[in-house]
Amino acid sequence: MELAPRSCPVPLLLLLLGLSTGAVISWPTKEGKEVWDYVTVRKDAHMFWWLYYATSPSKNFSELPLVMWLQGGPGGSSTGFGNFEEIGPLDRDLKPRRTTWLQSASLLFVDNPVGTGFSYVNKSDAYTKDLAMVASDMMVLLKTFFECHKEFQTIPFYIFSESYGGKMAAGIALELYKVTRKMTLFCSFLVASLGFSWVRPVDSVLSWGPYLYSMSLLDDQGLAEVSRVAEQVLDAINKRLYKEATELWGKAEMVIEQNTDGVNFYNILTKATPTSTVKSSLEFTQSHIVHLFQHHVRHLQQDALSQLMNGPIRKKLKIIPEDCSWGGQAASVFLNMEGDFMKPVISIVDELLEAGVNVTVYNGQLDLIVDTMGQEAWVRKLKWAELPKFSQLKWKPLHSDPKTSETSAFVKSHKNLAFYWILRAGHMVPSDQGDMALQMMRLVTQQE
Ligand SMILES: *[C@@H]1O[C@H](CO)[C@@H](O)[C@H](O)[C@H]1NC(C)=O
Ligand SMILES: *[C@@H]1O[C@H](CO)[C@@H](O)[C@H](O)[C@H]1NC(C)=O
Ligand SMILES: *[C@@H]1O[C@H](CO)[C@@H](O)[C@H](O)[C@H]1NC(C)=O
Repeated sequence: MELAPRSCPVPLLLLLLGLSTGAVISWPTKEGKEVWDYVTVRKDAHMFWWLYYATSPSKNFSELPLVMWLQGGPGGSSTGFGNFEEIGPLDRDLKPRRTTWLQSASLLFVDNPVGTGFSYVNKSDAYTKDLAMVASDMMVLLKTFFECHKEFQTIPFYIFSESYGGKMAAGIALELYKVTRKMTLFCSFLVASLGFSWVRPVDSVLSWGPYLYSMSLLDDQGLAEVSRVAEQVLDAINKRLYKEATELWGKAEMVIEQNTDGVNFYNILTKATPTSTVKSSLEFTQSHIVHLFQHHVRHLQQDALSQLMNGPIRKKLKIIPEDCSWGGQAASVFLNMEGDFMKPVISIVDELLEAGVNVTVYNGQLDLIVDTMGQEAWVRKLKWAELPKFSQLKWKPLHSDPKTSETSAFVKSHKNLAFYWILRAGHMVPSDQGDMALQMMRLVTQQE
């Protein structure tokens, strides 16, 4: 192991915040360079990131884009789940992943909001409470990152995300757009790709019933029950009672579980696996929060992944504080964002589109938690002047395997908005359809 010289000129403000030292390690194999570090984004708030340089056999990393991946939850770890379960160079068994995005981009995984994954806070009042805080923390992280890694300042920078990560990506993209325009952060930010975006979550809730009914997963009685609770969620949203809406969302999930014999919210053709009990330092008092946490965060840190991250990976990384365990603060991250969970961010997407930022929405056909009908519903609510033209377009089929006629996805794109319907994929598109996900990333980053 070789410690990276901290040669980059750290701005005074960040110096005062106290950065830790970074580490650079090469894989023992022919794989590319990787770097990771902590950035203190606020007092008592430390964010962990992990960068892999692209390993294309034919191109230097400097000719390929930089992709930042944001996990959902909130509280899901990008450096763990996105990296080892979805798009990183190695899978959970540390075997090479054939469909890794690293062959076409450098990858930046960030454990955000603080408290997620290997990120941590020292005081419980340092957790983020809303999207604005999440975005401002990320600005500090990215500023530090680009100043220390000048080689990426001129490389196209894209944000890809999943689930609640989509909502964070929207907020972060808009902030980044504003900051880069003022030239205080020197990176060539270009595109926000909001996978399964948590843009207006109530739209998903409202379509749960019809979607499951059409897939033979609800009967008339069940449909009526689900529709009733969905209306209650909508009512709470309309009254801006966001905590109550979150609580009702949890109730809606339970109603669905009871009526579908436990359908998996992340892929309706599979069965939900029984979740193990919440392990956290936090004493939950409300059962709906326990339930929501199980659904939205716990599944992102299954025991096998947790063992990998808290075992071989932390040993390799060397800079993780002894008393910080991967995922140990995730429940608190989730709980502190409770009031933000159900807030819609359509207006942010509108601002991005208005500003000319490329926005891509992609969704798995078999995803329930943020189902495709729900995505289409919020897209229809955009105020973007080009929306009627987008809506009038016909979609085009995509075939990720040229040797078969199997349809992998449909895509529609007009000006700076694109929508991908990914077939035979659930919530975790790159896990379920690795080839198509890779192709989509190449299309979005203008490589195909
Ligand atoms: C790759 O790009 C970097 C940054 O532009 C440059 O320093 C390096 O020499 C290049 N490597 C090769 C093999 O071309
Ligand atoms: C902050 O938390 C980390 C991780 O738990 C710990 O290692 C460190 O000592 C703490 N720092 C302070 C100043 O309390
Ligand atoms: C943004 O989208 C437009 C239209 O698809 C495309 O021409 C342009 O190259 C994209 N820009 C980037 C940076 O991907």
